[in-house]
Amino acid sequence: AEYENILVEQRDAVTLITLNRPQALNALNSDVLADLTAAFGAFDADPSQRCAVLTGSGEKAFAAGADIKQMADKPAADFFLEDFFSGWQTGVFGTRKPWIAAVNGFALGGGCELAMMADFIIASDSAKFGQPEIKLGVAPGMGGSQRLTRAVGKAKAMEMCLTGRMMGAEEAERAGLVARVVPAADLLEDALKTAAAIAAMPMMAAMVNKEMVNLAFETTLSQGIVSERRLFQILTATEDKAEGMAAFIEKRAGVWKGK
Ligand code: HXC
Repeated sequence: AEYENILVEQRDAVTLITLNRPQALNALNSDVLADLTAAFGAFDADPSQRCAVLTGSGEKAFAAGADIKQMADKPAADFFLEDFFSGWQTGVFGTRKPWIAAVNGFALGGGCELAMMADFIIASDSAKFGQPEIKLGVAPGMGGSQRLTRAVGKAKAMEMCLTGRMMGAEEAERAGLVARVVPAADLLEDALKTAAAIAAMPMMAAMVNKEMVNLAFETTLSQGIVSERRLFQILTATEDKAEGMAAFIEKRAGVWKGK
């Protein structure tokens, strides 16, 4: 498919999606959301694709937020009626296969929120994260107040939301917001390599592992542990479980069916 606001490439089993409005620092408008929803939907539906990487074009930004120019004159009722922000939860966060955000520069406001929808973030050493919405008279609207708080704890989340200050990559790694920091020049290669490693795993197991970790944010500990056990038990019925355990015992690499 052809998109206006993003680039999509398939590299073997890895889909690379690049936000491509560098002139607006990849600001997120409703057309970007429509493109991303279509691209993530196609990725989920394509059995040849097993992991995705989302990054931003240009060196400066992953995404500098929701598009302020699109929001500036929008009446309040339209924010409610269009419900733009909810589309990210279903159309992007709802992706069932694993995907990584490769954050290459500013990830601010909705850009930080989008990165936090990924299964994990790999950041370049020049990445900067922030929720500066307060300076515009608003607040995070795509999950930032909830996901940032769960990622870095109340103290840093509250400070960032109330002051709008940005957090650099090193601090973000220390605080648990990002999985790893790599030199800017290596970011994309590293993220694609990591994605290829995930894509080489038995796919249904990857999807279930993702679902399990995400459950930790939604349930009590005892309910989460019960759900984990049930999901584990479902995986024991897969062909890849039989293959994986046989391959271990026979000291050879597994050959996966993805089911
Ligand atoms: C629309 C944006 C934009 C945005 C940057 N641009 N961010 N356009 N929406 N969020 C545009 C600029 O207007 C400018 O276009 C071009 O991108 C380059 O940006 P500059 O500001 O000239 O670059 P620089 O001086 O280097 O500053 C970089 C920056 C700054 C610090 C990242 O752009 C900035 O503060 N951006 C806004 C960050 C922000 O507040 N994000 C949160 C948005 S609210 P022109 O045409 O002038 O060259 C949000 C809400 C979420 O995300 C949901 C709840 C409402």
